Amino acid sequence: METKGRFNIWTSGCQMNDHDSEIMQALLEKEGYQWTPDPETADIVILNTCSVRKTAEQRALGFLGNMKHQKTKNPELIIAVGGCMAHNPEIREFLVKKASFVNIIFGTRNFHKLPDYLEETMESKQRVIADKIEEAPGLLPAHRENPVKGYVTIMYGCNNFCSYCIVPYTRGREKSRLPEDIIEEVTRLAANGYREITLLGQNVNSYGKDLSRQVNFAGLLERLDEIPGLFRIRYMTSHPRDFTEELIETIAASHKVCEHFHLPIQSGSNKILELMNRGYTREKFIRLTERIREKVPQASITTDIIIGFPAETEDDFQDTLDVLKQVKFNAAFTFLYSPRQGTPAEKMQEQISQDIKKERMARLVDVQNKITLEHNLPLENQVVEVLVEGKSKKNPERWSGRTRTNKIVDFEGIDDQDLTGKLVNVLITCARTWNLVGMSV
Ligand code: 5AD
Ligand code: SF4
Repeated sequence: METKGRFNIWTSGCQMNDHDSEIMQALLEKEGYQWTPDPETADIVILNTCSVRKTAEQRALGFLGNMKHQKTKNPELIIAVGGCMAHNPEIREFLVKKASFVNIIFGTRNFHKLPDYLEETMESKQRVIADKIEEAPGLLPAHRENPVKGYVTIMYGCNNFCSYCIVPYTRGREKSRLPEDIIEEVTRLAANGYREITLLGQNVNSYGKDLSRQVNFAGLLERLDEIPGLFRIRYMTSHPRDFTEELIETIAASHKVCEHFHLPIQSGSNKILELMNRGYTREKFIRLTERIREKVPQASITTDIIIGFPAETEDDFQDTLDVLKQVKFNAAFTFLYSPRQGTPAEKMQEQISQDIKKERMARLVDVQNKITLEHNLPLENQVVEVLVEGKSKKNPERWSGRTRTNKIVDFEGIDDQDLTGKLVNVLITCARTWNLVGMSV
């Protein structure tokens, strides 16, 4: 088949970016472009970038440098930069004014227009610097590598303005997709053999607030729960402030919504939570986890924590350790605070040194790893239900999947049958901090 050109997409950041790249890949393939896994031999290279921390931006700028070099060898190479970095003012200015080798600058809300931008730059030989589009797109195709589980975006943007976070600036205001488009997409996925979907949004609890009709996140979950063929529903990310009683009850009553709650606490100190503009106190957060565990006793609760936010003292940090010990999260994802240009926290006095941040991080990870293992050890000799995603990457003799609580399980099958996409009961023989090992029964 004749191809319009070979393309590669370099992606970093969150699941939203991963999924936007899956959509761009499908759209370009539909237009007759051909995917290549190798950016070195591509005719078109697209960068879908992340700005959440400086390290993510540095990685993207490193890759962009390689592509600039590549372009000296192949002047026809088309380079497109999208994602969050295209909205970071400092980097945008660099891209627009100094990086003339970049042909297309788009962003986070117009990624689905990439085929038009490519055509435009190819025809006009001019650069395309695209504007933001506020409307949420309708049904879009996606190239999903995994045949069992897929992402589905339910809303774009974020209105929260936590003081450390660049996302509201890079992703714009909240816009929900229409419930009928989401239901249609999930129904099609289930009919095509997908067994698990993860609903994506920067703050899924706000789903529907901007729509004219009466629909909220709990209502959407109720409707998705009825779709035949689907086994599991997950969602990312929810804000602890907006986690309502109605939502807990809907999840408790649903069949498919998994017993996994990812609730980013960010800090255990009320002083820091206030400075972060999070809208809850440690006491409120702890009470929320208690209410969840009352209604969903098997619940696994995980969190995100930022270490070294401005003005975080040793006492504030101890408050965070104390919450970890009190709530006993199943897992905590920890991040060193990274000042982001244009956010209120970047201008705060008392920035914390990198050494102190790293030292606190090491202590926190130590505490959390022990708690995670404490949660996992009692699973030894228990039977858990695993949705099989495929062969284990570490050991092709084994299968790999996850529990409803999102723990990774590697296990031995009984005979040669392909278990991909199946629900399998697995007896856990060895529980570790990061995975469980067992055999199918
Ligand atoms: N510095 C460090 N971590 C951050 N996060 C968001 N912004 C920053 C920042 N400026 C973390 C939060 C969020 C996760 C996705 O990334 O913990 O929940
Ligand atoms: Fe990174 Fe946040 Fe943008 Fe996702 S939304 S790519 S995590 S800055």
